[in-house]
Amino acid sequence: MKISIIGGTGDQGLGLALRFAIAGEDVVIGSRDVKKAENAVSEIKSMLGKEEINNLTPMTNPDAARAGDIVVLTVPLQAQMVTLKSIKDELEGKTFVDATVPLETCLGGRPTRYVDLWEGSAVERSAEFLNEKDVKVVSAFNNISAASLTNIPEDVQCDCLISGDDLEAKKTVIELAEKIPGVKAIDCGALENARVVEKITAMLINLNIRNKVKLTGIRITGL
Ligand SMILES: NC(=O)c1ccc[n+]([C@@H]2O[C@H](COP(=O)([O-])OP(=O)(O)OC[C@H]3O[C@@H](n4cnc5c(N)ncnc54)[C@H](OP(=O)(O)O)[C@@H]3O)[C@@H](O)[C@H]2O)c1
Repeated sequence: MKISIIGGTGDQGLGLALRFAIAGEDVVIGSRDVKKAENAVSEIKSMLGKEEINNLTPMTNPDAARAGDIVVLTVPLQAQMVTLKSIKDELEGKTFVDATVPLETCLGGRPTRYVDLWEGSAVERSAEFLNEKDVKVVSAFNNISAASLTNIPEDVQCDCLISGDDLEAKKTVIELAEKIPGVKAIDCGALENARVVEKITAMLINLNIRNKVKLTGIRITGL
């Protein structure tokens, strides 16, 4: 199973790529610029102190989307649609995971504020855009911070809240999320529940700032 991270050169994408590479998965790092993707691969190798690992491949975003069985989008909201347009034709039949959080920073505002979207959430915006394709859209990784993903060798102290309408695709993403040490994947039901999940990230950023920390996360108890 190949996992392609679209926008994998950024904080979140690089952190996910790092954790999936450690778990032994085949990971493709996508970028608008293949040189940037190559640099991200080198950065991960040096973080791991393992120049010889061969399960990370740099590609352009469309090539990465074509190569991946699971395609994970990790770009800021303002880049979501332009990036989706560039990979749309490559997503047919695939599981597409959206980690986008609509934060006010995309409008020059605060990272502690959520921006309401007409579609209900960022992932539903993707789902509407990909509507005429056979793409299984899943929401995941929105609440797990890049700081905790790159905080190796420590476990990630955050659950992964996963929403989606396709049960098989959701199961696949649950299994993927649980390859990150410390992460418990929680099936949160239908895709529309991402409206709640995406908002939690703004609150976690608020808690990080208020407490001058970087690693806040969320745990669901009682399950
Ligand atoms: N950072 C976190 O801790 C965190 C946690 C949870 C969720 N998220 C969500 O994950 C997503 C990515 O976050 P991030 O912090 O990794 O973002 P980022 O570092 O700002 O950007 C990620 C990548 O997106 C591409 N990109 C940026 N601006 C673009 C534009 N205008 N047009 C096209 N591509 C553009 C760039 O890739 P190339 O230049 O290589 O193409 C960049 O490396 C966001 O929606 C964020 O809300 C982030």
